[in-house]
Amino acid sequence: MSPSPNPDVMEKLVSLCKRRGFVFQSSEIYGGTGSVWDYGPLGVELKRNIKDRWWNAMVRARDDIEGLDAAILMHPRVWEASGHVAGFTDPLIDCRNCKRRFRADDPKIKGTPGTPDAQCPACGMKGTLSEPRMFNLMFKTFMGPVEDSAAVVYLRPETAQGIYVNFLNVQQSTRQKVPFGIAQIGKAFRNEITPGNFIFRTREFEQMEMQFFVDPEGDHMQWFEYWKGQRMAWHRALGLEEGRLLFHQHTPEELAHYARAAFDIQFDFGGTLGFQEIEGVHHRGDFDLSRHQEYSGKKLEYFDQPSNRRFVPFVVETSVGADRTTLAVLVNAYREETVEGEAEGRTVLGLHPSLAPIKAGVFPLVKKDGMPEFAEKLARELRKAFPVFYDESGAIGRRYRRQDEVGTPFCITVDGQTMADGTVTLRDRDTLAQERVAAERVGAMIAERASA
Ligand code: GAP
Repeated sequence: MSPSPNPDVMEKLVSLCKRRGFVFQSSEIYGGTGSVWDYGPLGVELKRNIKDRWWNAMVRARDDIEGLDAAILMHPRVWEASGHVAGFTDPLIDCRNCKRRFRADDPKIKGTPGTPDAQCPACGMKGTLSEPRMFNLMFKTFMGPVEDSAAVVYLRPETAQGIYVNFLNVQQSTRQKVPFGIAQIGKAFRNEITPGNFIFRTREFEQMEMQFFVDPEGDHMQWFEYWKGQRMAWHRALGLEEGRLLFHQHTPEELAHYARAAFDIQFDFGGTLGFQEIEGVHHRGDFDLSRHQEYSGKKLEYFDQPSNRRFVPFVVETSVGADRTTLAVLVNAYREETVEGEAEGRTVLGLHPSLAPIKAGVFPLVKKDGMPEFAEKLARELRKAFPVFYDESGAIGRRYRRQDEVGTPFCITVDGQTMADGTVTLRDRDTLAQERVAAERVGAMIAERASA
């Protein structure tokens, strides 16, 4: 893959995220947990805003998709039926000396693993690398008081299976007719061997998945195309730059054996990482429902009244990572720029206002003449409608910069004129334009601009 024309901002972003409370390393005081991250006060808001936009677009705004929140722990047979027990594996190589593990395709390995000439890329020892062995990526644990093989359960590696096993529960309780979909947002776990790039590939992450059930004798390829279009439009509406998004069609080698077609939506993360998958749109045929029928012994058929037919529906799946989308949104938004007439430049997160964790900063220009009291009262009022940050310390320019850096789209300043006529200044993060508006109108103006 050729390097991206967009700059690599990852290192600066990781530092900003920690400094300003977006993302922290998990269990940092103990030295951290490998590729597991915690979302801080601003990060949790940003990710929640992304999830809300997905839930609104996929569930609330439609009458043909139902929501679900299935449990993480499922019957172990689910993962036999889905193919994860047998097939969710990577070929791995162990070093007998340093005990490290590598993917078989790791370019740092020299020689043929399993032979005396092969050299461990970590400890440098020769002849200690094993032949590749298959390693399952699912986390295992035990249910109940006895830790034996009969008690093994898995942490789900995807949320989709919770939807398949509930297909009839949802269809019958809601009386939906095919075509219709089921959507859910939830945690998934994968014991990734080469995690990394911050929150791009982690061992614990959140997925936003939707399975759309269609008639196998109907226009299922049209639905597949429809969902490709809808999902790309959703990413664009988040503010992801048009030129940084593309479709990648799975080649026959990449295509899962049961999939009829699959496209990834890729985003350009910049630098050497470049274009990477953020979402998959998959035509899964009737593979999953048929397998669950077979393994559970329960029929998962749909009765279509108009045609008087019973069938196992085909599935078009859309599957997007909430954390990976959060990273794409942050990378897309990060910029450093000079400001005319100012010696110091500024760092800006140009987040879409609807995604910004804080919608407005409220500042008294100085800490006297009733300005703090007026500003605090205004902040309290505005907080009823959206998140607001009140700040009265330091130079006003510095207060603006601190909000620019976390993506706050609007800053409201209470000054001498406010005390005379009740107007405030409303500053736009991106244009730096300042308009004077009546204090009682400013909330409605921000709410309107932040909901677009
Ligand atoms: N049910 C289909 C499925 O899980 P996938 O391509 O393996 O498909 C879908 O995953 C999405 O989940 C990916 O596009 C990515 O956004 C996210 N994802 C997968 N593995 C991840 C990981 N280890 N860390 C963060 N996000 C991940």
